[in-house]
Formats: sequence, C-alpha cells, structure tokens
Amino acid sequence: MSEKKIALVTGANKGIGFETSRQLGKIGIMVLMGARDRKQGLAAAEKLQEEGLDTAFVHLDVTSSRDIDQVRSFIDNNFGKLDILLNNAGMAHSEEPLFSNSTATISMQALRQTFDVNFFGLVELTQALLPLIRKSPAGRIVNMSSMLGSLTLHSDPQSGLEQIKGLAYNASKTAVNQFTVHLAALLKDTPIKVNSAHPGWVRTELGGNEAPMEVGEGAKTGVALATLDTDGPSGGFFHLGERMPW
Ligand SMILES: NC(=O)c1ccc[n+]([C@@H]2O[C@H](COP(=O)([O-])OP(=O)(O)OC[C@H]3O[C@@H](n4cnc5c(N)ncnc54)[C@H](OP(=O)(O)O)[C@@H]3O)[C@@H](O)[C@H]2O)c1
Repeated sequence: MSEKKIALVTGANKGIGFETSRQLGKIGIMVLMGARDRKQGLAAAEKLQEEGLDTAFVHLDVTSSRDIDQVRSFIDNNFGKLDILLNNAGMAHSEEPLFSNSTATISMQALRQTFDVNFFGLVELTQALLPLIRKSPAGRIVNMSSMLGSLTLHSDPQSGLEQIKGLAYNASKTAVNQFTVHLAALLKDTPIKVNSAHPGWVRTELGGNEAPMEVGEGAKTGVALATLDTDGPSGGFFHLGERMPW
C-alpha cells in the first residue's frame, strides 16, 4: 500500500477541479486527475507535472460505469487505497442559464442529463471507491455542491436567489447534499469524513465571466475539507470554513 496520500479529483482538466489538483499537489499529495477528454486530461496532468507536482491522468466520465470500474481497478492495483475523493465534476445545462426559472419548462432530457453527471455519477463513483477509501487511515470525501442546492436559502425571499431557479442544477445539488448527510451517517463510526462544499461564485466556464471569485480562491473550500484533521467535522456543508444552511 502506498505511503503517500492519494487523491482523486473528478473533472480535473479545467476550472475548480484543475486548481484543486494543483493545491493538493502543492502540499505533497499525489493527485489522480480525472477527465472525460483524454487529450485535455493528459495536458492538465502534464502541466502540473511541469510545476513539479505528482499527478497522473485517469480517464473518467462519471456517467460511465465502465470508466468507474477501470479507475477503481487502477487505484486498487497501484495504490491499494484512496485517501481523498473530491467529487468535483459537474455541469449546468444550456436550457437553464444562471438567471432563469426553468421549473415549468426544463425538458426531461436536460433534467436527466444534469442528474446523470451531478448526482448519479457522483453516487456510483463514491460507492465503487468506498472500499478503497475504507483502507485509508483517514479517508476524506468532498462533494462539490453549491449554495444553489440549499432549500433554506431558496425558500428565503431575502437570500438573493429569487432569479436563480434552474431546477435541474439546483435540485441535483440538493440531492448531493442529501447524499453527504446519509453517507456521513453511515460512516460515523469510521475515520472517514464526508462533507459538501460550496466553492463560491467562481470565474470558470460554468461560473461565467461575471463571477467575482478567482479559481484559486474557489478551490480553497474543497481543499480544506479534503485535508481536515481527525477532529474536523463530518456530514456538514461549508464555504471557506463557514457552515452553509441546508
Ligand atoms: N463556478 C462556480 O461558480 C460554481 C459554484 C458552485 C458550485 N460549482 C461546482 O463546482 C464544480 C466545478 O465547476 P467549475 O466551475 O470548475 O466548472 P467547469 O470549469 O465547467 O468544469 C467542470 C468540470 O466537470 C467536468 N465534467 C462535466 N461532465 C463530466 C462528466 N460526465 N464526467 C467527468 N467530468 C465531467 C468538465 O469536463 P469537460 O471539460 O470535459 O466538460 C470539467 O472538467 C461543479 O460541480 C460545479 O457545479 C461551481
């Protein structure tokens, strides 16, 4: 079994996933960078290797059971455990721009596609890797959620989310939060910690150019939860160290 800490970051070819890989790499963690596009994934892993970091590309479309199984075997055969799973891959469908209310119009295809990536893929990957995470002395699972998944904020007229009601994206992140709570309950007597992260509104392809936060800042919440001490929280929802409402 590898002595070094091993992390898997999904959707690591760009945006918050790429920056998260860089920040984990900089603290000496070996990062497996998952990407569904081989060329982009390889280029991303090579870029961080050129910066002196220990990274490797793994081909992973989170909606592919075959990819998930191959990644599980690869990690098992090469490292025998997984210390950090950062479920970062995510999408927002073009049918629901950020400032819209898609509730009455979203197509079932868009709803299913969004759930396939943001929820079903995340759950299937986590279930597949859980036996390897149990072999880590201090497993950490971070589910990249969003404040847009918060029912408390959406039902508060003062929260500023009145115009941001994309049903597929928001509901998929609410489901991710429920997965976090259920998984943390299941693992409460183990060293494994499971938390949801809101990265902030971050300037990436998904976040758009209007977003106020730079990607380096946007990666911080996930990295902090991925590297929690033994006395850190589990089953919570956080943004930059602050608890978010469910
Ligand atoms: N940016 C924000 O303001 C913000 C706010 C709250 C939450 N988030 C969450 O943060 C996470 C990262 O978002 P980001 O802003 O960095 O977005 P991004 O730059 O668009 O990156 C999204 C990443 O997810 C990958 N991905 C999409 N579908 C996938 C699939 N089926 N299998 C594997 N990877 C897939 C993308 O790969 P491709 O390049 O191949 O498409 C890309 O690497 C997401 O979960 C997002 O919901 C972001």
